[in-house]
Amino acid sequence: MSNTVVVGTQWGDEGKGKIVDLLTAGADLVVRFQGGNNAGHTLVVGGRQYIFHIIPSGILYKNKKCIIGNGVVVDPEVLLKEMEDLKKAEIDVDPGRVSLSDRAHLIMPYHRALDLAREAKKGKNKIGTTGRGIGPCYEDKIKRTGIRAIDLTEPDILEEKISSNLKEKNFYLHEFLGAETLEMQPILDKYLDMGEKLSPFITDVSVELDRALKADKKILFEGAQGTQLDVDHGTYPFVTSSNPVAGAACAGAGIGPNQLHHVLGIVKAYTTRVGAGLFVTELEEETGDFIQEKGKEFGATTGRKRRCGWLDLVAVRDAVRLNGLSSIGITKLDVLTGLKTLKICVGYELEGQVIYQRPASLRQFSKCVPVYKEMPGWQEDITQVRDADRLPVRAMEYLEAISEITGVPISIISVGPGREETIIIKDIL
Ligand code: IMP
Repeated sequence: MSNTVVVGTQWGDEGKGKIVDLLTAGADLVVRFQGGNNAGHTLVVGGRQYIFHIIPSGILYKNKKCIIGNGVVVDPEVLLKEMEDLKKAEIDVDPGRVSLSDRAHLIMPYHRALDLAREAKKGKNKIGTTGRGIGPCYEDKIKRTGIRAIDLTEPDILEEKISSNLKEKNFYLHEFLGAETLEMQPILDKYLDMGEKLSPFITDVSVELDRALKADKKILFEGAQGTQLDVDHGTYPFVTSSNPVAGAACAGAGIGPNQLHHVLGIVKAYTTRVGAGLFVTELEEETGDFIQEKGKEFGATTGRKRRCGWLDLVAVRDAVRLNGLSSIGITKLDVLTGLKTLKICVGYELEGQVIYQRPASLRQFSKCVPVYKEMPGWQEDITQVRDADRLPVRAMEYLEAISEITGVPISIISVGPGREETIIIKDIL
């Protein structure tokens, strides 16, 4: 039996959603453990497109339990909207299918207001956040003034917390950020109303998972964002506010490290980044536009155009170490079809020396120049290939280079957005 964690190795948007969806077939429970509705998974199933921001994409299967762990920050309005949309698509959403951790922190209207006002004030130094209030919500969690899902079931406590938080937030919003203040009563009314709708889903997720583990159920942990956006290990400060690395699955779901058996790192065949921050292999000319258009590289959450570049294996190798990757899933290999030459970044040149890890200093990182390994591309359509042996030789060489340089075997290759457009090399679950 193996419980698997799926993580992004790059700057998010690696196509984790599709792989998670695929692996869900062999799992009993799917768990989100960090991030919030800054994430967005686009899935194409049976020709229909679904976008999820909070509910694990496993909801598209019948009889799989989807769990939102304590490490997730939840915007209840977004969660309820997602539930409504799923119901419209005739997908069951009831407490038997979805659990929300009683300890998960809630995104409040003042978190969104702070996120937007701060970014506006920062001007050219802005992080390029998704503006969903993620950072301010995690700040309150750490500051110990956050509002948790359980508070929705205790109206007097909810009122007290919103009231005391608003005093501070309004002062900061108005006096420091020059933004509009917010009123207490409409927020309280709305959250009480949403609380009524959500309370049947609120539960102790750690206890639920423990029960499932004892019953030998298989659990799939679905990471959001990517390792390079990790608040500790990413390209700080141009990062998100949580830990998307595999280790966070334990703290963010309430299980022990001995329950994780396989860590699957998702590597998109090239690199993308949304928002601000240094990007060593960024392509600002024709090839970048080719990849951006062919890969439909627009943010699932904000619709922003993603910046595109060659595959940066320095970043991926960092992710191998930080997550303890057991295997790699390659996504969007088909997007590279048609390019004459491909480049893989194998090291960074920094002040005359080649280095193989990203430096912590942003100043040093800004001086890094990619060292490329050039490889010939392939022209054949690969979207119909279901067996690795039938891939064009040059595509195989590209994959072998990734595996060799990272030292990690490839278990899955995705050659198109659909569930069936996949080559399975090793059955993980
Ligand atoms: P935040 O998570 O909204 O605070 O945004 C912080 C940074 O993380 C910004 O550069 C965002 O564009 C980036 N980010 C957050 N979530 C995702 C994601 O799911 N995919 C890609 N980038 C993300």
